[in-house]
Amino acid sequence: MAAARTTRISRPGGGAGAAAAAAAAVAVLVVSALAARTEYSWQEGGGDPAATACARRPVVFAFGDSNTDTGGVAAGLGYYYPLPEGRAFFRRATGRLCDGRLVIDYLCESLNMSYLSPYLEALGSDFTGGANFAISGSATLPRSAPFSLHVQVQQFIHFKQRSFELVAHGGSAPVDADGFRNALYLIDIGQNDLSAAFGSGAPYDDIIHLKIPAFISEIKDAIMTLYYNGAKNFWVHGTGPLGCLPQKLAAPRPDDGDLDYSGCLKTLNNGAYEFNNQLRAACDELRSQLRGATIVYTDVLLVKYDLVANHSAYGFEEPLMACCGYGGPPYNYNANVSCLGPGFRVCEDGAKFVSWDGVHYTDAANAVAAAKILSGEFSTPKLPFAYFCKA
Ligand SMILES: *[C@@H]1O[C@H](CO)[C@@H](O)[C@H](O)[C@H]1NC(C)=O
Ligand SMILES: *[C@@H]1O[C@H](CO)[C@@H](O)[C@H](O)[C@H]1NC(C)=O
Ligand SMILES: *[C@@H]1O[C@H](CO)[C@@H](O)[C@H](O)[C@H]1NC(C)=O
Repeated sequence: MAAARTTRISRPGGGAGAAAAAAAAVAVLVVSALAARTEYSWQEGGGDPAATACARRPVVFAFGDSNTDTGGVAAGLGYYYPLPEGRAFFRRATGRLCDGRLVIDYLCESLNMSYLSPYLEALGSDFTGGANFAISGSATLPRSAPFSLHVQVQQFIHFKQRSFELVAHGGSAPVDADGFRNALYLIDIGQNDLSAAFGSGAPYDDIIHLKIPAFISEIKDAIMTLYYNGAKNFWVHGTGPLGCLPQKLAAPRPDDGDLDYSGCLKTLNNGAYEFNNQLRAACDELRSQLRGATIVYTDVLLVKYDLVANHSAYGFEEPLMACCGYGGPPYNYNANVSCLGPGFRVCEDGAKFVSWDGVHYTDAANAVAAAKILSGEFSTPKLPFAYFCKA
């Protein structure tokens, strides 16, 4: 891989109101990005592809936050996220907070299915492959706030009841009864809960022993509610390394005593680790309680921490600096000037960065994370992602 110092930050790219003076810099922004990492395709570690091929058309229902939002908040609240969001892959505004694809997009690619349409997207949606209820900013608590996990599950129930109602009246619905029964129900939430908990200044022990159990209880409740509404196949993601996000690293700290050997914040990562331990235990418990359910838990902390710790092995040069943000090295993150905020800067080659905007990962990083998730190595039990669509 050639050239260009990745620490160089250019003025805003592609259509986000770049000044004329920035035009020259914009020209260099040309998206060479992604493609580069095709070696981490989804079949890596999957062994015999035939063994993991779908025997029926896969249907996926996803629940979560911006890590999984394929346009939900944009549709639901009328937000618009212009380029450089999407610049590396879709090359247009899709509502994703990323320069390209999210992990969920790569997971859908692995099933040879279309990307999931957001449940709230009124136009151009295709729900034959399921629906995406994930909304950026969502958390488990408070449980009745739009669009908490609980609300997303209620939206799913609405979607299912409407489908049956339409069919009962002689119409048709994108997903039929078999589709709902055999679908995969994917949940990836908790990052915003954890982030808010640590941001609140609550004592560490209270976060671990009071707050996290409350978050996990909401996820358990969501799984049980979906189960009692006919779901049996689950795919649950743990949370990622909160302490490796440029957003957290850029916050003022008294000294570097909390940094680990990768340059991440130990306290926040310990919190994420505890969250995951409790989530894994909840999945174990539900597995023995819910007859006929398959609940796969995947440790996304290990997946994403490896991405940072071993970044050069995956072709990344900047594990802890946001591509799109403000302030330059070491983190290029400023809470007052987020990506798309007035005066933001964006790097030339996002494929060399793990972090897109200080909170979300780049298309390139999501490709590697998804490949590792698909390898099954980080899952309990170790089932292939496509387990639910086999005969
Ligand atoms: C996707 O398509 C490829 C190529 O036809 C095939 O090898 C693979 O098994 C398919 N994956 C699934 C999950 O069906
Ligand atoms: C980094 O890669 C090495 C070699 O593959 C592996 O043993 C180690 O566990 C990885 N580090 C992390 C933090 O995952
Ligand atoms: C953000 O703006 C506030 C108010 O102007 C200022 O006090 C603060 O230092 C700024 N933060 C950063 C990281 O620049």
